Amino acid sequence: MSIKYLRTSKIQNKTVLLRVDVNVPIDNGKVSDPFRIEQILPTIKHLQKDGNTVIVCGHLGRPKGKKDPQFSLKPVAELLADMLGYKYLETDHALPDYEINHLIFYKGNIAEEKHQAQLSMAPSKDVILLENLRFYEGEEENSPVFAKKLASFADVYVNDAFGVDHRAAASTVGITKYLDSYCGLLLEQEIKSLDNVLKHVKHPFVVMTGGIKLSEKVGALENLGKKADKILVGGGVANLMYKAKGMEVGLSKIQEGETKTAWQIEKNFKGKLVLPTDVVVADEKMDKDSIRATSPHDIRKTEQVLDIGPKTILAFANEIKAAKMIVWSGPLGLFEKKPFHHGTMALARLIGGRGKGIAFVVAGGGDTVDAIRQAGQFEHIDHVSTGGGAMLEYLAGKKLPGIEALK
Ligand code: 3PG
Ligand code: MG
Repeated sequence: MSIKYLRTSKIQNKTVLLRVDVNVPIDNGKVSDPFRIEQILPTIKHLQKDGNTVIVCGHLGRPKGKKDPQFSLKPVAELLADMLGYKYLETDHALPDYEINHLIFYKGNIAEEKHQAQLSMAPSKDVILLENLRFYEGEEENSPVFAKKLASFADVYVNDAFGVDHRAAASTVGITKYLDSYCGLLLEQEIKSLDNVLKHVKHPFVVMTGGIKLSEKVGALENLGKKADKILVGGGVANLMYKAKGMEVGLSKIQEGETKTAWQIEKNFKGKLVLPTDVVVADEKMDKDSIRATSPHDIRKTEQVLDIGPKTILAFANEIKAAKMIVWSGPLGLFEKKPFHHGTMALARLIGGRGKGIAFVVAGGGDTVDAIRQAGQFEHIDHVSTGGGAMLEYLAGKKLPGIEALK
């Protein structure tokens, strides 16, 4: 079977269970990064326009099957209400029926029988958001009982949760056994953009990576590296590669236990891999007077690498300027802290300058998305993925259970 897309299907006057990934950072009871929530609005509006009642569901954090208030989706519900221009209302039992549109945050324990009747009577002008699905053990266990329960609230299932489709859960996989299932607008865009990279490579194809965790990226690097013309490496991943060569990296952040992986990648992609030829270092306290640009062969035991150096910015820029396709995941330094933002910001601006026209650009991962925003380049990137782990697994060529289940 092939995937059924919501965009090209007629789903009207139904009750739709919409699985989204609203696993967003929460700071002091407020959503601190709304990106993933913004991205699901088109699907909600599309479904509403056709007279459907939308029951949205998602997870937050890892509460491991237990109800835990610190992982409540309430901040998400409040923001979603704002974004939709609806009045916020929370309840754990009856659904009120007012004239104006509401975002109803439904806190009831949906494992109990009585909720089925409540939810199936939901008025179509409202949008309902269920409390964190990971408060129930059955969710992450992909329990058929829990999947059936979720299915009992709706006529149709729509998956728009790319960011969590690498997890086989009741709400991503199990549920598709019990409901007619569709691929949402955001998920469709994720699949098409990432498939474009995997199946229609344009050369020169440049992959840029950084950040700390190499273990998460190694699959994507191995897979994309085969087709890439250049792999630009900065940040902690570059430090790890220096370490693998036996160089001194001082106090630099690296992922412990991954030097062998770094060595392997370096060996596999010799000739394509571009490592910084100069780095910006500082002492442990990042004291102003200790900041200097130097060769990576000259890092002192008391220093840490915090950015790529000016020569490297130029070298990376030259590759980016020639590229027709770019994938970027992982910042090149500690861009959150000035003056260590220069490398990441300069490259983000250049990548934005190539995007949507000259080159096809895909970027993703929480820190990378932050850097793109900080550089004001969000609108200039062809596809900013809502998936971190999910994007990297997809680009590694793996099949994601949540997407496979729609086939
Ligand atoms: C994410 O934010 O990476 C996804 O929502 C998946 O969350 P998880 O890593 O806790 O499964
Ligand atoms: Mg994750």
